[in-house]
Amino acid sequence: MKGSSSSSSSSSSSSVPSEKPVKFKVRAVVTVRNKIKEDFKETFVKHLDALTDRIGRNVVLELFSTEIDPKTKAPKKSNEAVLKDWSKKTNVKAERVSYTAEFTVDSNFGEPDITCESRIEKPLPMYIPRDERFEESKKNTFSVKRLKGVLHNLLPGLKSSLSAHNQDFNEFSDVDGLYSVGLLIKLGLQDDVLKKLPLPKIVSKIQESSQGILKYDIPKIISKDKFAWLRDDEFARQAVAGVNPVTIERLTVFPPVSKLDPEIYGPQESALKEEHIVHQLNGMTVQEAIDENKLYIIDYHDIYLPFLERINALDGRKSYATRTIYFLTPLGTLKPVAIELSLPPSGPNTPSKRVVTPALDATTNWTWMLAKAHVCSNDAGVHQLAHHWLRTHASMEPFILSAHRQLSAMHPIFKLLDPHMRYTLEINALARQSLINADGVIESCFTPGRYAMEISSAAYKASWRFDKESLPQDLIRR
Ligand SMILES: [Fe+2]
Repeated sequence: MKGSSSSSSSSSSSSVPSEKPVKFKVRAVVTVRNKIKEDFKETFVKHLDALTDRIGRNVVLELFSTEIDPKTKAPKKSNEAVLKDWSKKTNVKAERVSYTAEFTVDSNFGEPDITCESRIEKPLPMYIPRDERFEESKKNTFSVKRLKGVLHNLLPGLKSSLSAHNQDFNEFSDVDGLYSVGLLIKLGLQDDVLKKLPLPKIVSKIQESSQGILKYDIPKIISKDKFAWLRDDEFARQAVAGVNPVTIERLTVFPPVSKLDPEIYGPQESALKEEHIVHQLNGMTVQEAIDENKLYIIDYHDIYLPFLERINALDGRKSYATRTIYFLTPLGTLKPVAIELSLPPSGPNTPSKRVVTPALDATTNWTWMLAKAHVCSNDAGVHQLAHHWLRTHASMEPFILSAHRQLSAMHPIFKLLDPHMRYTLEINALARQSLINADGVIESCFTPGRYAMEISSAAYKASWRFDKESLPQDLIRR
């Protein structure tokens, strides 16, 4: 809503739908609560709003149905209804002012979706309270970072949508090219192609930008050893010192057991057996290794399995739910000893789980490589959707809102929280417009595709606990 007012709405229908779909009218009443005392700026904004209303830039409402339109595959929508008399009622001094809007809806519209929230599209900014907005200096560093982020995240997607065969990378040298040749050259975006692109603004900005931004920064490990990522010790090192060191935990039960409903997801038992790993434990039995805290697990079974059928039905996405078992060697390094790959059960006699162990020959070497690649793909998803977006960005928002609403700016707890909360609301708003939105960067580049946010919210329901989120509790738990 406009200015600093708050609003509530109610609606009532004025005719009864018959069997054949007919159009009928629904009237919405929107109540705006005025401030008792406005400052100069608020009065100015109010008059500006009234002026734009008079020249036809009205406040517009739309009704969304809980039912899906079979044609658009999106929720059914009403027409756009203008909030009447906005400018006329500008000077009404009452505490509450009511406005009406009239929708025209088909009788087969279904129930209006009261939980529906429509995003404010770019370039219009989402509303952020003033004291949570970026300072000018933050804005500058953020836009450089964002340009880099756009390059790193958007362009591979752009490239695949431009390519006739819709292939992201044909060979490993394509990946190396991201560091050595740079993306613009890889895209082959010459001037004439640039003009035809649906995103001319972003792309020309990229062309204007310096060479350094065009190229991906070479990861340190790759600059030292190009093939490090192929080896088991590097794979295991990343479990504790890579981008996501917060999933690995001590193994306490072997074989691991799923907590998913067996009625829906099949037997809870894992396919992992003692014989898969016992010869890799320096002479220990599995129980001895567990007792001496030598076995660790990254378990992505329960977070992925409920989504696999839908993910694997998407074009170009293939995923398993993975479990990886690590052994802590006498050198103090981790070693992956087994990977379990699971799919939802497709029938009583079709095995849905398989275990892959480190390679013995050329063939098993590639199976093992591919199993590790699936673990990394699972890990990238959980890292960004559960640990990053959910646990740092999304779950902080209610705390930030309530701290501002309930605590004085002088309150010692507010003082302590403030530097941690700063800018999160604005970053989240930007993420909602550009990263986690439908068909945005996350959905187009991540394996879970359009189910990304559903995985995030399922992870919140299944495992987010306020008292377990901080140190040292998180480390004690794991
Ligand atoms: Fe972040």
